[in-house]
Amino acid sequence: MSQPDPVLGVNGELPRGENKRQVVEEMFDRVAPGYDRMNRIISLGLDTRWRNRTLEALRLAPAARVLDLACGTGDFCVDLTASGYRAVGADFSAGMLKATRTSAPLVRVDAAALAYPAESFDAVVCGFALRNFVDLVQVFAEVARVLRPGGRFAALDAAVPESYLARAGNTVWFRGVVPVLGRVLSRDPEAYRYLPASTAYLPESEALINLLVDSGFTNVEHTTMTIGSVQLLTGTRS
Ligand SMILES: C[S@@+](CC[C@H](N)C(=O)[O-])C[C@H]1O[C@@H](n2cnc3c(N)ncnc32)[C@H](O)[C@@H]1O
Repeated sequence: MSQPDPVLGVNGELPRGENKRQVVEEMFDRVAPGYDRMNRIISLGLDTRWRNRTLEALRLAPAARVLDLACGTGDFCVDLTASGYRAVGADFSAGMLKATRTSAPLVRVDAAALAYPAESFDAVVCGFALRNFVDLVQVFAEVARVLRPGGRFAALDAAVPESYLARAGNTVWFRGVVPVLGRVLSRDPEAYRYLPASTAYLPESEALINLLVDSGFTNVEHTTMTIGSVQLLTGTRS
C-alpha cells in the first residue's frame, strides 16, 4: 500500500488551519538544505529579476530599515544588505534560517505575531510566502502594525496565468516537470507537489487588493510578470 503524502494528506487535499501551519513549517525545515538550488532551477533563473523589481517597488531611502518577512534562506536580505539597507529577516522555519547566507539579523517568529514594536520598519518585503500563511488577514494586520506611516509593503508570489496558452505552459512546467525534478533532485518530492498546488490558497488579485486596503494601505497595486506566472502586490501604509 502506498504511503500517505505527508504534505497533501491521504486525499491529496491542501492542509488548513493549525494543520497547515505545522505541515508548512516541517516541509520547509526538510527542504531547506537544497532550497536555493531548486529555487533557481524552478524559476529558470528568473527569480533574481523578480526580486529586483520587488525591491524597486519599495522605493527605499538610503539606510532604510527593511523587514524580510518569511525570509527563508534570506535572498532579499542579501540584496538589501549589499545595497546598504538595514535588513532584518523573520521566518518560522528553523531549518530555513539555519540555511541562510545572509549577515542580517534573523528572528524565528510566526508572521501572524511579529515580535517587533509598532512602526519599527520603513518597508516590509515578502517573497513567495503569502500562500503559505494560514491567516492572510492577520499577517497583513501585523505588516501594517510594524510599518511606519508612509512605509511600503511589497509581496511577490506565484500566480496562475490568465491566458490559455500561458496557463497551459505553466501547468506543464509546475504540475508536470517540477514534481519530477523534485523527485530526482530533492529528497522531498511531496514538497514539490505542494508548491504548484498551493497557489490555490491565494485569493484573486481583486480580493488581495481589497484585503490590503482593509488592512490600512493606500496606493495598492497588483501587477504580474513573466506571462502572468508571478504576481507583485504593493501598497503604502496610510
Ligand atoms: C517559498 S519560501 C520563500 C522564502 C524566501 N522568502 C524566498 O523568497 O525565497 C516560504 C517561506 O515562508 C516561511 N513561512 C511560511 N509560513 C510562515 C509563517 N506563518 N511565519 C513565518 N514564516 C513562514 C517558510 O518557512 C519559508 O521559509
